[in-house]
Amino acid sequence: MLDRAAADGNDGIHPRLVAVSGNTRRPSRCRTLTNAITARIAELVRVEIRIIELVDLGPGFAASFERAELPPRLLSAIEAVETADVLVAVSPVYNGSYTGLFKHFLDFVGSGTLVGKPVVIGATGGGPRHTLVVEHQLRPLFAFFNALTIPTAVYAEDASFTSSTLTDPVVMRRVEMAAAQVAAILTATGIRSTLAG
Ligand SMILES: Cc1cc2nc3c(=O)[nH]c(=O)nc-3n(C[C@H](O)[C@H](O)[C@H](O)COP(=O)(O)O)c2cc1C
Repeated sequence: MLDRAAADGNDGIHPRLVAVSGNTRRPSRCRTLTNAITARIAELVRVEIRIIELVDLGPGFAASFERAELPPRLLSAIEAVETADVLVAVSPVYNGSYTGLFKHFLDFVGSGTLVGKPVVIGATGGGPRHTLVVEHQLRPLFAFFNALTIPTAVYAEDASFTSSTLTDPVVMRRVEMAAAQVAAILTATGIRSTLAG
């Protein structure tokens, strides 16, 4: 489904869904959760998908402090987020919050560029202790941007996965709810949206 949606190309007709997966290694549960959310949205509405993995941004990423000095690949990723119609933002939990690199990436995003933009927030952690990271850390972060954060946030722990597949029915249900909420917003607002079918 991801491939089919991506194959729609940059046609300016379908909403542009940009997913930021904060993984700094592979295989990655964060990336798996990002895929699950993105794929489910693509099953409900036609979208043009770009997935950004922080691990791909290269060594210049952590060493860049000013937008003017960003390497082209990083600038392209930032601009994709800024111009997206809908965003999926998922981070691993490090020390009780999103990772420092995830925040470093978002620090380059223009503060006015996410206003009113639908954003699905998600996180992966080792266990259940930090389930509410999505509510206490990620939701306020996107409130700063005045984004339209989707009501259902998704948290998955190590036990939610079997090998590299998301298998926890409770988490999958939340993925379903979040995707349905995105689809409802895109359809209601008519953001270059066409129902998938
Ligand atoms: C430096 C570090 C700090 C972590 N801190 C937490 C934590 O506070 N709470 C938690 O549930 N998991 C914690 N974890 C586990 C990771 O969140 C978990 O392994 C990660 O979500 C898996 O994502 P990935 O496969 O994409 O790397 C930590 C892992 C690392 C490497």
